Amino acid sequence: MPKFYVTTPIYYVNDLPHIGHAYTTILADVLARYHRTLGDEVHFLTGTDEHGLKVQQAAQARGTDPQAHCDEYVIRFQELWRRLYISNDDFIRTTEERHKAVVQRLLQALHDKGELYQDEYEGWYSVSEERFIAKRELDSGQFRQVEKVKERNWFFRMSAYQERLIEHIREHPRFIQPDTRRNEVLGFLRKPLGDLCISRPKSRLTWGVELPFDPDYVNYVWFDALTNYISAVGYTSNEEQFARWWPADVHLIGKDILTTHAVYWPTMLMAAGIPLPRTIFAHGWWLMGEEKMSKSLGNVVRPLDLIDLVGVDPVRYYLMRDMVLGQDASFTPEAFERRYNSDLANDLGNLANRIAKFLRRHFEARVPGLKQPADTIFDEGLKAGAEEIVRQVPQLIGEMRLHEAIEVTMELVRSINVFLEQNQPWHKVKTDKELAGRALYYAAEALRIAAQLLHPVMPSRMELVRRMIGAEDVPLADFNWGGLKPGALLGEGEIPFPRLDTLAVAGQVEPPEEQPENVVTFDDFQKVDLRVAEVLAAEEVAGTDKLLNLRISLGDEERQIVAGIAEHYTPEQLTGRRIVVVANLQPAKIRGEESRGMLLAAEGKDGQLVLATVDDPDLAPGLKIG
Ligand code: MSP
Repeated sequence: MPKFYVTTPIYYVNDLPHIGHAYTTILADVLARYHRTLGDEVHFLTGTDEHGLKVQQAAQARGTDPQAHCDEYVIRFQELWRRLYISNDDFIRTTEERHKAVVQRLLQALHDKGELYQDEYEGWYSVSEERFIAKRELDSGQFRQVEKVKERNWFFRMSAYQERLIEHIREHPRFIQPDTRRNEVLGFLRKPLGDLCISRPKSRLTWGVELPFDPDYVNYVWFDALTNYISAVGYTSNEEQFARWWPADVHLIGKDILTTHAVYWPTMLMAAGIPLPRTIFAHGWWLMGEEKMSKSLGNVVRPLDLIDLVGVDPVRYYLMRDMVLGQDASFTPEAFERRYNSDLANDLGNLANRIAKFLRRHFEARVPGLKQPADTIFDEGLKAGAEEIVRQVPQLIGEMRLHEAIEVTMELVRSINVFLEQNQPWHKVKTDKELAGRALYYAAEALRIAAQLLHPVMPSRMELVRRMIGAEDVPLADFNWGGLKPGALLGEGEIPFPRLDTLAVAGQVEPPEEQPENVVTFDDFQKVDLRVAEVLAAEEVAGTDKLLNLRISLGDEERQIVAGIAEHYTPEQLTGRRIVVVANLQPAKIRGEESRGMLLAAEGKDGQLVLATVDDPDLAPGLKIG
């Protein structure tokens, strides 16, 4: 039997899952279900990424131990996947023994082969991304929680594999998909590839897998996390299982984690002498309007809220139908409702309901019996169309063109509606019941096929539809026209997709968290250039009793600033003092005098201004305060 091993990224256990996370997992589930029904032996892996600084800090902040913190949070993912009908075969947590042991064996093997070495490292570390960032990334201001770090660490000789990786990508066009991402990685590899820092000293981070050859360090969280794809299928612990499943057929990832998967991971595998995964497929982002849906932007849709309102299957359908695999898509309540009402409530749901009702009323709730084959009397279009789609869908799935597979199936559904309009069995039943019965058989059989093809996307509601028309579950691999058995009794059930009230979904989008107006971001603060300055001279500005004109030194530069402190300080009290100024304030003309900067003062009791001054002799004029 052909096998299909599909993985999702393992999710950071700290986050509450949102639609973006649910998307990757549902996508993996739909692919897994298609492959199962096509007769492949499937292994579907998902899990959680539980080590690293973020988890350590979150646990600390809550006053719990990190393992207890993870044990509590992992349930939210497992519970959500259960509710979303996720049919994963395994769930890996990076804090499990079976995983940690493999990470250690992999590290030891690389160490023994001379692939690892120790060196001094100095750089910027982004806690939110859990990785070192380059100077240009720091300067872009896009990274949060950045810390300067200087320490000894262990490195993996990743640079040695640059050429081999480029060659592999060139020779295997399906290795990185879609092509835009493949080109992006090749572009990235045009610049020299550095080595990868794979350790963190325990003085900074304890929550990780200890390096087996150096107990002062834990393993870098991405090295640890990527290893899940082989630890879960028995690398170095169950050879038979490993040989059965590895290499993975598809690693599904979001485009934001492309470099770790398409560069770090394959070079790690090359160094260890393990074959590479067949395909790394990077999908786009779910956006809210123009922006990525993410917790920090406060614009997330929580899947549980949505499924409580509309049910699981419509959410799965919308996410699979409205994202062209590989591109970004925008989630809007309006688009969701439009899609639901037109595709599901109207085209598909009404059809199932009409057929079932008709058969109940006129055919004793049974599939009509046929005296001659159903298809000899009508236009062959519907049957031929259905057969064509049964051929197309597996092909489209194989090419990861999932939304097209859904769309061609929905075209079949629409053509059944057209067929019924043209043949009018509702009227014919009065004059020629047998003819009406045959038309109904024809329509119900095409609907059976559509429901079977949509089953991986909507497992629960398509089972309902199947029951409603007396059909059985047949794997796609043995699928043929004529599977509906004349005389079969219909099951219970109606209205698989009740119409949605307009904008009911809109209430499910979490409003952005209210930000108090006086909050500045880290980036806002970074923009302000605060300097130590020495007041060289001060004098009153003619014609006012509020302003003083100060001549200040910023070390290698002198300038003038005009400050509204004349009611609180005399010029003599200021001369020689060291103060703090905002040095990059836009210059202004005040009472004809140029002011290039602003001094800092506190508002004391009774509105008295108190200058912020600096005593420490080491704080020389010009030094930057941050
Ligand atoms: N823990 C790492 C993955 C390690 S895999 C060895 C991680 N976790 S994550 O929880 O932050 O993200 C997991 C996946 O969710 C990523 O593929 C990411 O792209 C996806 N999504 C998060 N927000 C998303 C959207 N708004 N839209 C679509 N997917 C997005 O990264």
